[in-house]
Amino acid sequence: MLEVQFEDQNRTFKVEPGANLREAAISQKLSVYSHVFKILNCRGRGLCTSCKVEIVSGNVDPRNDIENEKLKDKAPDIRLACQLTVNDNLVVRTHV
Ligand code: FES
Repeated sequence: MLEVQFEDQNRTFKVEPGANLREAAISQKLSVYSHVFKILNCRGRGLCTSCKVEIVSGNVDPRNDIENEKLKDKAPDIRLACQLTVNDNLVVRTHV
């Protein structure tokens, strides 16, 4: 099992390697969305960018094609939670 810490919420939880970060957060009743985007989001299809998170620490795979397109103006540590596979212990900052 791996550990994911959501820094802003001061919560740490365990996930299976290979888990999707957005789905893991939802299973822990943690939201990667802010404000109105809790309702208005694309439900993990990589279209809305409202699930942006900052990877504070931990190794992650390189951005996929969706992230490369949607986040091209963002720093490399900004990722889409819905596109991210957890393969290391992570510290994550939400609502970036
Ligand atoms: S949920 Fe819309 S891009 Fe991730």
